[in-house]
Amino acid sequence: MTPADIASPPLPSDKRRYVREIFSEIAPRYDLLNHLLSLNVDRSWRRKAVSRLEWERRPGGVFLDACAGTLDFAATLAGCPGFRGKVVATDFALPMLRLGRRKTSPDVVWPAGADALQLPFGNAVFDGGMVAFGVRNLADLDAGLLELFRVLRPGTRLVILDFTTPAFTPVRALYLFYFRRILPVVGRIVSGHPTAYSYLPASVMDFPSPEALERRLERAGFHDCGHIRLTGGIAAIHWGVR
Ligand SMILES: C[S@@+](CC[C@H](N)C(=O)[O-])C[C@H]1O[C@@H](n2cnc3c(N)ncnc32)[C@H](O)[C@@H]1O
Repeated sequence: MTPADIASPPLPSDKRRYVREIFSEIAPRYDLLNHLLSLNVDRSWRRKAVSRLEWERRPGGVFLDACAGTLDFAATLAGCPGFRGKVVATDFALPMLRLGRRKTSPDVVWPAGADALQLPFGNAVFDGGMVAFGVRNLADLDAGLLELFRVLRPGTRLVILDFTTPAFTPVRALYLFYFRRILPVVGRIVSGHPTAYSYLPASVMDFPSPEALERRLERAGFHDCGHIRLTGGIAAIHWGVR
């Protein structure tokens, strides 16, 4: 293990292209690594996040899953008992979307290639929006939040699930050790990609704290915002009303 194992975060000007390339390249191994590196806890995080969407208020509505990857989050919503709506699942890494298609019914989940910073939808068309482990990867977080605000109907919710860094010092030390030392090595071996799993901890370190992200949601126009930390503070769910 050398310092070179921990890649520097890519320059912001490169971020869009870099992120698109790495997710396109690691797509075949993404699900395996996701569940392995999170010890499968990501499944319960997704269920908790979906439960904050208040989709039950519009069970036949049309919902957006942005940065949808291999469609796990969209499939979680689509699988909720009583859900009768549609999920439009967008991502700019098409291999990720393609690999996810077998998880869902094409009648319920509609994958679409699209950049979250320029969504190809009109204003106020969705009955709720959600993003799991996606906003952290946006080249411009505030522009992304504004774009999500734009496409949601007034009164509907945006829910964001993402990693964060624990505040409690002993947990934080363990987490940073895992994230900086173990995860990049396991990720590199299993994915075969030289930097993708070094980018992951770098992007988490670079991401706003849960309190700061809540303020950014408010600044984008959302109200009644809130967040909860998950699993000792290693992830968080945020929400806000359009
Ligand atoms: C860590 S994966 C998360 C995938 C999925 N939401 C999940 O929960 O497993 C991040 C995804 O965000 C996508 N992404 C990042 N920036 C994007 C952007 N500007 N537009 C569209 N997709 C983007 C990547 O291609 C990748 O598939």
